[in-house]
Amino acid sequence: MTGDISNARISFDDVRVGFGAGKKRKEVIDGVSFDLGPGEFVSVLGPSGCGKSTLLNMAAGFPATDSGEVRFDGERITRPESRRGVVFQQYAIFPWLTVEKNIAFGLTLKSNRRSRSEIDETVRRYIDLMGLGGFEKALPKELSGGMRQRVALARAYATDPDVLLLDEPFAALDAQTREFMQELLHEASRAERRATLLITHSVEEAIYLSHRIVVLGNRPTSVHEVIDVDVPWPRTPQSRLQPEFLEVRGHLEGVMRPLSGSTLRKAQT
Ligand SMILES: Nc1ncnc2c1ncn2[C@@H]1O[C@H](COP(=O)(O)OP(=O)(O)OP(=O)(O)O)[C@@H](O)[C@H]1O
Ligand SMILES: [Mg+2]
Repeated sequence: MTGDISNARISFDDVRVGFGAGKKRKEVIDGVSFDLGPGEFVSVLGPSGCGKSTLLNMAAGFPATDSGEVRFDGERITRPESRRGVVFQQYAIFPWLTVEKNIAFGLTLKSNRRSRSEIDETVRRYIDLMGLGGFEKALPKELSGGMRQRVALARAYATDPDVLLLDEPFAALDAQTREFMQELLHEASRAERRATLLITHSVEEAIYLSHRIVVLGNRPTSVHEVIDVDVPWPRTPQSRLQPEFLEVRGHLEGVMRPLSGSTLRKAQT
């Protein structure tokens, strides 16, 4: 791990979480520690139900900690803040707002209000970055699944967060759209250099996008392994065929197989 605590944007420090009381008590997270450094892209892989969303939601500002801490720039996270942009697993963009109004939404809130011209400029920038030109006035129901995810990402970027927290943003997409979205996110994160934490079931996606990958074990979960991804930057579609890529992929599939058969099947789609 590159775990320099003083430098980390997000730190999970020996986080332990259980839900319920008495006989119904279920231990979920059993001492997870890792950091997300400035400008770093870290993916979290782990079996379904091991506690990935619980961890991301804690970083977003919804504390569930029994013990340990999640910190942002050294301070304990206690509530959501616009400095941490989130795409939740069950994310829905507002169906009654157009693409541009969805993207502008966070900038019109009292806590984060910007001038009209600043809002217009920001919306334009992320419409362009996410390839949504021509759909400014469209409603979500008029968009494909991939385009809706691009609106969700644009909205997360628009408030100029220091950190992006993305919980399986492409899980519902077909394989081809998903690869396209990975390339788009890679380009966006290279252009913007924001610290990003991505939760995914896809080994390929994690390798394509990340500096490091944190593999979580079965519930009650702890960090099973942390892998530095030494595939050269920038990543391109050809990167998927490079020996470094294939080596990490082979290794990760070997690591994941005993953790969960279902996770591996999903990762190969
Ligand atoms: N508020 C809650 N109350 C009770 N149990 C919860 C709560 N939140 C999560 N859990 C349980 O904690 C475990 C981890 O849930 P979580 O959503 O974090 O898993 P996950 O790794 O994101 O799974 P998936 O890969 O399917 O998205 C699950 O067993 C879930 O049922
Ligand atoms: Mg989840």
